[in-house]
Amino acid sequence: MNVADSEVVSGILQRAGYVFTQEISDADVILVNTCAVRDNAEQRIYGRLGLFNRYKKRNPGLLIGILGCMAERLRFELVERERLVDMVIGPDEYRKLPLLIEQASEGERGIAVRLSRVENYEDITPLRTDGVCAWISVMRGCDKFCTFCVVPFTRGRERSRSLQSVVQEVLMLAERGFKEVTLLGQNVNSYRDGDYDFADLMRSVAEVDRSVRVRFTTSHPQDMSDKLIETIASNDNICKYIHLPVQSGSDRILKLMNRTYTIDHYVGLVEKIRRAMPGVSLTTDIISGFPSETEGDHQVTLDLVNEMKYDGGYTFKYSPRENTKAWGMKDDVSEEEKGRRVGEVTQALHKISLALNQSMIGTIERILVERHSKKSDCEFMGRTDTNRTVIFPRNGEYPGEYIDVLIQRANSATLFGTRVDAENADGGNRLGALQETSL
Ligand code: 5AD
Ligand code: SF4
Repeated sequence: MNVADSEVVSGILQRAGYVFTQEISDADVILVNTCAVRDNAEQRIYGRLGLFNRYKKRNPGLLIGILGCMAERLRFELVERERLVDMVIGPDEYRKLPLLIEQASEGERGIAVRLSRVENYEDITPLRTDGVCAWISVMRGCDKFCTFCVVPFTRGRERSRSLQSVVQEVLMLAERGFKEVTLLGQNVNSYRDGDYDFADLMRSVAEVDRSVRVRFTTSHPQDMSDKLIETIASNDNICKYIHLPVQSGSDRILKLMNRTYTIDHYVGLVEKIRRAMPGVSLTTDIISGFPSETEGDHQVTLDLVNEMKYDGGYTFKYSPRENTKAWGMKDDVSEEEKGRRVGEVTQALHKISLALNQSMIGTIERILVERHSKKSDCEFMGRTDTNRTVIFPRNGEYPGEYIDVLIQRANSATLFGTRVDAENADGGNRLGALQETSL
């Protein structure tokens, strides 16, 4: 979401005549896009601001601005109390950036943090650098008010872009050669444009160009409609990958979190999704150590993780956030205990993804080639439809191409293999012995 927002900001600045530098010491303006979802994200930003202020000592004209959710939360502290930055701009005020930069260069400190009920930046062309995968923000804000979450306070109420503007953007991206789009929103499946819902949007986007893959994130289990499941299942270019955060395996904790579903409902939903799409990849988010979480609650969370056989997941220690309802609850699970629980959940998720990944050894997977692997120029990386990262030696292909790779090695996060010509390979879709792994 923040990458997508930074591209919108870059689009606004480019339109105002600014140019980008790769060299931080050349910059006259440094803007930091921030996250406030957990305290450690904010602490990292404070560290960065210290570093940027060192550049300011060398170049007194340098302006420093904070964008995004942390700006919304800490507006006065950052500008007035700490005097660490010249500008603070919330997520709905990016259009004001050129004006604020101008004012700040005349010595005025600028704060623009009003949240809007309508701003969705649909007329701004984001400045994108990547040539294969693009993020498209289709709705902003969140009305769910999970009791642990600061997003409804820092990003405001839900609002959606028009279906037409999203389709138009996808068309433009397809013409520029992009091969994958990810539709983004804090709570993307509650998208609405008049009578059109998220399933209608997904179908329309998928129809733009069948060679362009479509992904989406993040969905709330409550808004995962049958129509949406059917739409994902029936469109080949909609990836069979769903990030479906459960947060906890305990009904009591889910209630305290205001997640509005029970584990029974969630499990039923997952069964429905798997029936409609055998082989679908499912990932989740889990918070450990929410107020009053007992060892019993933790154990049922572990049980759920093992039962769901998630393809992957993100785990977090509960971090109290001001303004949220849970802020008023006693943060009574010790740091140490949170650490142990989150470690156990992470380990359980790893064990499952390792087994699932190893069970793919010997299969041939179709992937979209994205870029060089981080470790070596002689290797490329791509992803399967189910969002698994695959590394393979370069062999004449180029980013944006779909190729088939024989999987030969796997760890819990990555598959490794070599390119094959699937049409001519013996044994259909599976080569060699499938490694037996019990889950
Ligand atoms: N503490 C810990 N994790 C949190 N998340 C959101 N708020 C908090 C918090 N206060 C996690 C949730 C969410 C993900 C984006 O971040 O799991 O799904
Ligand atoms: Fe936060 Fe997601 Fe809940 Fe919205 S649905 S309040 S963004 S955790």
